[in-house]
Amino acid sequence: MIRILGIETSCDETAAAVVEDRTKVRSNVVASSAEIHRRFGGVVPELASRHQVEAIGPVVTLALEQAGTDLATIDAVAVTCGPGLVGSLLVGVSAAKAIAWQRRIPLLAVNHLEGHIRSCFLEHAISFPALALVVSGGHTHLYLCPEEGVYRTLARTRDDAAGEAFDKVAKLLGLGYPGGPVVDRLAEGANEEAVSFPRAVMKDGSLDFSFSGLKSAVRRHAQARGLQQANATASGDDVPREVRDLVASFQRAVVQALVETTLRFVAREGISTVLVAGGVANNSRLRRGFAEAARDHNLTVAFPSPPYTTDNAAMIAAAGFLHLEHGRIAGLELNADPNLKL
Ligand code: KG4
Ligand code: ZN
Repeated sequence: MIRILGIETSCDETAAAVVEDRTKVRSNVVASSAEIHRRFGGVVPELASRHQVEAIGPVVTLALEQAGTDLATIDAVAVTCGPGLVGSLLVGVSAAKAIAWQRRIPLLAVNHLEGHIRSCFLEHAISFPALALVVSGGHTHLYLCPEEGVYRTLARTRDDAAGEAFDKVAKLLGLGYPGGPVVDRLAEGANEEAVSFPRAVMKDGSLDFSFSGLKSAVRRHAQARGLQQANATASGDDVPREVRDLVASFQRAVVQALVETTLRFVAREGISTVLVAGGVANNSRLRRGFAEAARDHNLTVAFPSPPYTTDNAAMIAAAGFLHLEHGRIAGLELNADPNLKL
């Protein structure tokens, strides 16, 4: 039995997890500082890294405790080394290096995006080739995975990430932070055909995504209708119907771009397995859109369950298994790389 301790601190979540034999998650602890950032309407890097420093010790201890184990039984430590906020990343990387050095166990350097992709493997047996769509607050990338551990970029966003678009739209409407879950909830039962928006893709003939035009269209519509900052709090019922219809229409446009572009690559590459990961994979409309696509096009679409969609360390440990199996061990000179590419 191989047991990996995963550590993830790329943004505003401090996470640690113990995973055995690739897929058995023994613990998955996440401490978020989102509450601290809420009043600023977005992550404040300095506050995020300060919270990471405070949380990392207790979170690792709790993950070991919940797994019913201790550092002495851990075979390797996997850590996110990028991309992300450098101050946040450094906290996890330093902790992982200290543990690897003290225990003389392998240190595994994991790309955060590979972690998101591997989150799909925790609960599903995936066959290759596959397409992997990573949709989060920082990224919107579609990859071709011809075999295990190989990732080729097919399409990406040229401006905002999908999650970022959700967050910015919620912010401009005064709906709170993070915006994705709020919009998802408010859109439920609303009329998503109320406002027709442009497709959130590039118009230059490429198949890349572009969400900033969509966000601006939402802003213009809100300004024209006097809907901006209509709601200081978004507990739900007090949000006007028109705002709900607006966010539902926006959400539909995001989902359409993601599903339609993925389907174009499904056809082009002749692939029938699609993985959808990252925080936005939580979105109920996106899950519905892909469920319909799966039915209509005879595809297997795998979504991680909610604890593994937003940032977590089980996915980092899961990716760590691949590195360990292939002997890709990092040295103690490992550094955080905020712009690390997959
Ligand atoms: O993967 P993640 O936790 O962090 C990054 O790596 O960025 O993703 C966070 C993003 C945020 O932008 C948040 O608004 C979005 O995921 N998100 C959602 C939902 N839940 C989280 N977006 C749409 N619908 C949701 N239900
Ligand atoms: Zn993430």
